[in-house]
Amino acid sequence: MSDNLIKKILVLGGGTAGWMTASYLGKALGSTVRITVLEAPAIPKIGVGEATIPNLQRVFFDYLGLTEEEWMPECNASYKMGIRFINWRTPGTGTARPRPYGQYGDQFDHLFGLLPNHDNLPLSHYWTYQKLNGLTDEPFDRACYPQPALFDRKLSPRFPDGRRVASYAWHFDADLVADFLRRFATARQGATHIEDKFIAAETDQRGHLVAVTTESGRRLEADLFIDCSGFRSLLINQVMKEPFLDMSDHLLNDRAVATRLEHDDEEHGVEPYTSAIAMSSGWAWKIPMLGRFGTGYVYSSRFTSQEEATREFCQMWGISPDTHPMNHVRFRVGRNRRAWVKNCVGIGLSSCFLEPLESTGIYFTYAALYQLVKHFPDKRFDPMLTKSFNSEIEAMFDDTRDFIQGHFSFAPRDDTPFWRACKELELAPEFVRKVEMYKAGLGVDLPVTDESTYYGNFEAEFRNFWSNANYYCVFAGLGMMPEHDPTPLDYRPESVKSAEAVFAQVQRRRDELLDTLPPMHTYLRRLHGK
Ligand code: FDA
Repeated sequence: MSDNLIKKILVLGGGTAGWMTASYLGKALGSTVRITVLEAPAIPKIGVGEATIPNLQRVFFDYLGLTEEEWMPECNASYKMGIRFINWRTPGTGTARPRPYGQYGDQFDHLFGLLPNHDNLPLSHYWTYQKLNGLTDEPFDRACYPQPALFDRKLSPRFPDGRRVASYAWHFDADLVADFLRRFATARQGATHIEDKFIAAETDQRGHLVAVTTESGRRLEADLFIDCSGFRSLLINQVMKEPFLDMSDHLLNDRAVATRLEHDDEEHGVEPYTSAIAMSSGWAWKIPMLGRFGTGYVYSSRFTSQEEATREFCQMWGISPDTHPMNHVRFRVGRNRRAWVKNCVGIGLSSCFLEPLESTGIYFTYAALYQLVKHFPDKRFDPMLTKSFNSEIEAMFDDTRDFIQGHFSFAPRDDTPFWRACKELELAPEFVRKVEMYKAGLGVDLPVTDESTYYGNFEAEFRNFWSNANYYCVFAGLGMMPEHDPTPLDYRPESVKSAEAVFAQVQRRRDELLDTLPPMHTYLRRLHGK
């Protein structure tokens, strides 16, 4: 056994990222290391971060040995089958109701799960062929997936016996998740929790961190330091002086005003999706849970003030800041030049952040943890490990940044200075190439496996995270169509004909599910023992 093994890890910060880190590393490294979480109770957590993506269970909770039945009731968690984008095409001030537009109003869905293939091409290509040749009026999401109809009826993605019918993620209460993971990491994995404020750090002659000191005079030594101090980024930016690369030239939003609203589930049901509602200078999330929903207006301070954003937000929900406490959040968009520097790794908001349009913040945390364990060092800190980890984080982040920028760039609405400015921002060359592929009728980053194995192999999923179905849902949803038919289909009329049976199967499945699935709030009440 080498003397070079890491024996002590200090995690600075006890928000979602801090406790996810302590739990995940506790599981991966077992009793070989001592993990301490230092958290200043007087410094609040960010208090938002309630929508997720599907691999959370498999990559994070399953890894810890925690079933949905165990963690969901503790965190007031509900299910999410995708994101419904509302009013991204038509002008007007914020309203949660889709404005009139086509058959279904101004809304489209970004759904989880991969598209079926037919004759070696994804269903998206057959839909494009039909659409460009005037053979269908159905929007992409409704033609290719059963889920939009389940959204309309607020149904659960699971049958009463627990069988699942679609890929799904979760909504949850961010504070309850941090509390749950704190209990898990301390009681079941032996992590030490110290409530005290970080004041300063000591480094050695190589510039490696040696210890941190706290307000009450503690000195905490470690071999590896994980900075989970949120936007303050106390270790990696402030002590290690790693520059933060600002990416506000890609994404304009830098503020949010958020609150929680009570909700009558019996009367209105619980929506099995996140809503992303376009506003005058940004967009608002609506994240439903049992008995309440979280909501926030993400806006650009270049185009509206806090007062004006709060006014539009409150007007949309018919509330007042005098009766509903508002959480005003400032955020930075971008990432640290390197996520890991010497013996300090930034995880969570201290490392990188993209505005929450595609609910990727918490994903970035557990994806970084997966990569950290894969690249786990000893005290020699082989630079190749650091370099490889950093390039994985960089690729993960930049790919998502570009996809999110596309939402704003290609949204047809241009009725306000904000929406017009979004269209003037430059797109990264790699993303431009993807858009050109899409327009030429090619699949964009076609999934490397089918759905049965895609979600069982995080390494494959990580490298192919946004794939053809994601690009199609958003691009076609915003009304941006490929410019040509997918060329091979012109040569294959018999494939076009036989694909009709696949579309018919989607519709049959939809009708069958509409008849048999329970309402989401009924399923959740049972799961939560209410
Ligand atoms: P957070 O700020 O929560 O925690 C920082 C911790 O550091 C706290 O415990 C604090 O006490 C501690 N600390 C700070 N200074 C200290 C000191 N001097 N000494 C000791 N401790 C100190 N993600 C997602 O997946 N889905 C979503 O829907 C959203 N939505 C969303 C909306 C908005 C507006 C924002 C800004 C962010 C999101 N996110 C998100 C991101 C999500 O909120 C975020 O990834 C997680 O909450 C993780 O936050 P952290 O733990 O990194 O920071």
